[in-house]
Amino acid sequence: MTTTPQPAQIREVVATTPGMPATDGDGVKMTRIIGTPELNMLDPFLLLDAFESDQPQDYIGGFPSHPHRGFETVTYLLAGRMRHKDNAGNEGVIEPGGVQWMTAGKGIVHSEMPEQEDGLLMGFQLWVNLPAKAKMSDPAYQEFPPAQTPLERREDGTEIRVIAGTTGEGTTGVVQNGFVQPTYLDVSLPAGGHFSQAVDPGDNAFLFVIDGELEVGRQATYLGRRTLGILGEGGRIELRATSGASRFLLVSAQPLNEPVARGGPFVMNTKEEIIQAFDDYKHNRF
Ligand code: CO
Repeated sequence: MTTTPQPAQIREVVATTPGMPATDGDGVKMTRIIGTPELNMLDPFLLLDAFESDQPQDYIGGFPSHPHRGFETVTYLLAGRMRHKDNAGNEGVIEPGGVQWMTAGKGIVHSEMPEQEDGLLMGFQLWVNLPAKAKMSDPAYQEFPPAQTPLERREDGTEIRVIAGTTGEGTTGVVQNGFVQPTYLDVSLPAGGHFSQAVDPGDNAFLFVIDGELEVGRQATYLGRRTLGILGEGGRIELRATSGASRFLLVSAQPLNEPVARGGPFVMNTKEEIIQAFDDYKHNRF
């Protein structure tokens, strides 16, 4: 029997994962949270990496020149700075509270390097799939410094950095995305603080606890620090911070429900398209 999710239904945590240690780029140490054997993807989210270190040897190598095709990369920093450059002449520095939402489309070749030689580097990279019809579109950037990403401050001390989507108090994020209508919020709650957010009943959604601990849903499922919780069906998210202040990401979007073929930095619909992507890259057709 299948049930239709009701808008009033509160979403519950249906699975959790801490991710696993991974190394990517030129020796950058990180935690891979989505894109692992445990959680291959959460349609349309293909990958979520969290990087956090104050040891330069963990990040200084950065991500030298590499291609992407067929999806979007979302880089959001909490600490430190990253410089990106691409083969079309685009260049910029991403700062804490700022975001780069890059639509790789038919292909870009870029580098993503730490803009620092010491100190803390902390942030996330999320890969968001593109629908088949947009995989070969022209590359595009939506890049905003911290001053342009809305920060909602509520009376109880809650602060919400709104990257995409709209909060219950009406703050709308800066990123536009008509493909999967994403929500991407960075929420800081005071101890015991309560948070409620409408979410499209058709979305896939997850929480990732950056700091503190949460109790989620009517069942008050415990979600600990540095843990991702996948949310089940419903039209509303309800949660509270437990004994201390808590910070978490809330990310949701419409699933594409299309076949996914992966080949390293390329994500297409068929194996043939992946082979084509490798061939195009090899022959400088990006
Ligand atoms: Co990249």
